[in-house]
Amino acid sequence: MTARMFPVPERHKGRVYVITGGAKGIGRACAERFAAEGAQVMIADIDEAGADVAEAVGGAFHRTDMSDPGQVRALAAATVARFGRIDIWHNNAFTAVFKPIHEQSLEEFDQITGVGIRGYWMGAKVAVEQMRAQGGKGVIVNTASVQSFVGEKGFSAYQATKGAVLAMTRSLALDHAPDIRAVAIAPGLIATDAIKGIAPDVMDEVIAGIPAGRAAQPEEVAALAAFIASDEADYMSGTAVILDGAYLAIG
Ligand SMILES: NC(=O)c1ccc[n+]([C@@H]2O[C@H](COP(=O)([O-])OP(=O)(O)OC[C@H]3O[C@@H](n4cnc5c(N)ncnc54)[C@H](O)[C@@H]3O)[C@@H](O)[C@H]2O)c1
Repeated sequence: MTARMFPVPERHKGRVYVITGGAKGIGRACAERFAAEGAQVMIADIDEAGADVAEAVGGAFHRTDMSDPGQVRALAAATVARFGRIDIWHNNAFTAVFKPIHEQSLEEFDQITGVGIRGYWMGAKVAVEQMRAQGGKGVIVNTASVQSFVGEKGFSAYQATKGAVLAMTRSLALDHAPDIRAVAIAPGLIATDAIKGIAPDVMDEVIAGIPAGRAAQPEEVAALAAFIASDEADYMSGTAVILDGAYLAIG
């Protein structure tokens, strides 16, 4: 890894952090980072590998399909039953099938947006309800994407979710300001399973379009998430923080 990591011990001590899509990739790195900074971590995923992550970080795993509102509510209840509260809720899970719109089915659209819009909204809703019940303070972190800002062929359903995440984050930041902050993270290319399917020649082209000359590691996103959720970032809300190796700077 090019970037050096400096977890801040005890920065999130005593806080309860929920990460969706925490079984691998960015979510897993976030689970590890928040645990290293003292948080009690609840990992939600449809992939049972989340249980191994939970064991590794001394947290808990709750199998959750984020597209099912009842399961999202059960996740919040399980978190409170286990850890007593929710301080930081990080919507991050995603599913996607990338095709030109004429080949994409309505079922695929519903599945992608079911996790990426309804799942995020439902997650924020149960988190805010709990935060208010326990005294009012909290942070919602939403993983968006550089694709919230630019178009790409074959990404219509996925990009619909990422555009919605930005707009939703702005509104969430207003609902209970200043007590409950909401911030989106917009990553560029991150080295996770999500990009494994990209053919090597296409990947060379993608990397050539990134001034940083590389994909970022998921730990670099986790470092940003840990800062965003911290007290030092108390003035940061209703916005997106872009982590893209200057990809969008090209214009
Ligand atoms: N990797 C990138 O280049 C990149 C770039 C920009 C944004 N992002 C965003 O980062 C986030 C994490 O992506 P990643 O790269 O770590 O992907 P990943 O594929 O490594 O992990 C996604 C996780 O979400 C889980 N998941 C899928 N459907 C679910 C459901 N219905 N309920 C609960 N969990 C579910 C998967 O099981 C998996 O563990 C996503 O929101 C993605 O859009 C990724």
